[in-house]
Amino acid sequence: GVTRHYKFNVKLKTITRLCKTKSIVAVNGKFPGPRVVAREGDRLVVKVVNNSPKNVSIHWHGIRQLRSGWADGPSYITQCPIQSGQSYVYNFTITGQRGTLFWHAHFSWLRATVYGPLIILPRRNESYPFVKPYKEVPILFGEWFNADPEAVINQSLQTGAGPNVSDAYTFNGLPGPLYNCSAKDTYKLKVKPGKTYLLRLINAALNDELFFRIANHSFTVVEADAAYVKPFETDLLVLAPGQTTNVLLKTKPQPPNATFYMLARPYFTGQGTFDNTTLAGILEYETPSDSSLKSRKLLKPGLPAINATNVVANFASKFRSLANAKFPGNVPQKVDKKFFFTVGLGSSTCPKNQTCQGPNGTKFAASMNNISFALPTTALLQSYFFSKSNGVYTSDFPAFPLHPFNYTGTPPNNTLVTNGTKVVVIAFNTSVEVILQDTSILGAESHPLHLHGYNFYVVGQGFGNFDPNKDPAKFNLVDPVERNTVAVPSGGWVAIRFQADNPGVWLMHCHFDVHLSWGLRMAWIVLDGKLPNQKLPPPPSDLPKC
Ligand code: C2O
Repeated sequence: GVTRHYKFNVKLKTITRLCKTKSIVAVNGKFPGPRVVAREGDRLVVKVVNNSPKNVSIHWHGIRQLRSGWADGPSYITQCPIQSGQSYVYNFTITGQRGTLFWHAHFSWLRATVYGPLIILPRRNESYPFVKPYKEVPILFGEWFNADPEAVINQSLQTGAGPNVSDAYTFNGLPGPLYNCSAKDTYKLKVKPGKTYLLRLINAALNDELFFRIANHSFTVVEADAAYVKPFETDLLVLAPGQTTNVLLKTKPQPPNATFYMLARPYFTGQGTFDNTTLAGILEYETPSDSSLKSRKLLKPGLPAINATNVVANFASKFRSLANAKFPGNVPQKVDKKFFFTVGLGSSTCPKNQTCQGPNGTKFAASMNNISFALPTTALLQSYFFSKSNGVYTSDFPAFPLHPFNYTGTPPNNTLVTNGTKVVVIAFNTSVEVILQDTSILGAESHPLHLHGYNFYVVGQGFGNFDPNKDPAKFNLVDPVERNTVAVPSGGWVAIRFQADNPGVWLMHCHFDVHLSWGLRMAWIVLDGKLPNQKLPPPPSDLPKC
């Protein structure tokens, strides 16, 4: 591979959307941010200069970061934020991945405007395991706030209430014609008939899982989270925040001026409020057109009901890894360590002499195994590497719930979480299984769980409570999909497995930013192995300090 250099200049940008002009944090004056392109095996060197007044750090979402954990990017986990006027060089190699990922800010809610595509092409002498596309088009799904996104989450954290919802969804930063004052900001995908397009779809929305459809068209899904999948046809796509998918779109002969709506709308089963708007873009055919075909006006596709959980589960079950001679995969067949994590909402007590607007006068919180993860004031990876904790974290994150209950039945009366900076420490190369179980506390909801530093295999999923006596017999250990983000079904569970071959500190969290901010996160510490190439090297000298 080669080394590719990029420079990210993080600074404020004035932008108008929905008839409101505001200042946002952006990279290189672009919204969405610049495209980063590399081939498998290449090294990326990205110098991030923070010329904005905010703290920032950049996460390369889905990149394995094999023995390069210092470049992973989550603030207070692998690094302290890059302060205003400071810079940091992210330096990492892309190993064993090809497809679409994205990069985004990993501080507060800055990723609302600080994000862009991260495209990994196959090695120079390799081709796609599917037909060579005529053109490749990245489409980022985003979420737009008229207010300052950081102010929105800070208000929620102070008052304990749910945050204000976004004002629009966007395709590549454009809300489109169904919003007031937005028709001129419409994303148009221009195509020619009789060609195959590779759409690189990225859900960079903050808090919403999205359905996506284009009228009169269907897709062939070929890749998810930068790993190839067995191709399958579908006219409906579902992407949770943090998920990326490559699909082929075959264009057909069309009458002159043929246009079709492409729509996206949330899937939601929770009890709070959410942005219930519909995003539209336009698929527009360029000539040659076929004038023997009857012309028709702009068609709108139908979309499933907002809470169509079965549609979502059925879609998720279609993903299978290639599991062939060239891409055999690496599903752990036996497990060294088993974990069971509940994921869901909860509440925390209201501080004295404050009024809180969350459930029953408390503050909204979110947890795994009832632990709401408190961010430390210095980066975990630094304290682990240099002082083996020094009181910054404790290694007692519970492997199983301390007080089991009927997770999908009537929730317990006591919904209070425990706050702490708790981690799980595991030996190098442990094979790990985690059952992620949704809870009904304050409403069952789908949670997109994202793991840093690894891809995992989704070996099982189901509704209700996971049954350790029956469900493992149904696990797929042959061709389970390999991902970095999986949606834990609303009122159900998923089982994931991974081989802990990457030493470092790795965050696992809900990729809804609201749940992340409320504490739905934990960290794994994967110890060094014995061999020199099984150890995490020391940090680069420009690593930001707290
Ligand atoms: Cu894309 Cu820690 O997240």
